[in-house]
Amino acid sequence: MTGNIVLIGFMGCGKSSIGRRLASRLGHAFLDSDELIIEAAEGRSITDIFAKEGEERFRERETRALQGLVDSTSIVLATGGGAVLRPENREILRRIGTTVWLHADPEILFERSTRNRKRPLLEVENPRTTFNTLLKSRLPIYEAAADLKIDASGLSHEQTVESILKAIGGGISDGA
Ligand code: S3P
Repeated sequence: MTGNIVLIGFMGCGKSSIGRRLASRLGHAFLDSDELIIEAAEGRSITDIFAKEGEERFRERETRALQGLVDSTSIVLATGGGAVLRPENREILRRIGTTVWLHADPEILFERSTRNRKRPLLEVENPRTTFNTLLKSRLPIYEAAADLKIDASGLSHEQTVESILKAIGGGISDGA
């Protein structure tokens, strides 16, 4: 049993802030796959990688970053919102640990994911339309990839962490 937790979910659902708190409660290390990608790209931002290399190259970098974590123990991993898109990534995530889908009301997700300009996929003429399309196409993928689902709507970060701890209380798997 590694006890690793993998947070999945749409942009703006709070994977990083909640993941950090959850890690500290569990005494685990916190990792963020976007940060690992940035590190491997020598500090270039996600926006820069998307702009100069395109989404496909970004996804390759993402798969490599996730692959590098399969032997990790005692981690909480916050993934990028699109990390579940590739079937091979979903397999990797399951090998890493228990996958927890953090969901929230679409309005909350939209507001949070467009609050800053760090999400190249939503830096488009009509972000609302793109947001709706992406969310609709991804919901079933999160559903399928998740061992557990937590609805964080109306919950503070602390309350969300409590819900996750309660949900995993029955035991966390190593993905085997
Ligand atoms: C993406 C989500 C982002 C980041 C990239 C692509 C996506 O991560 O990986 O902009 O496809 O949903 P967050 O979910 O942390 O914003």
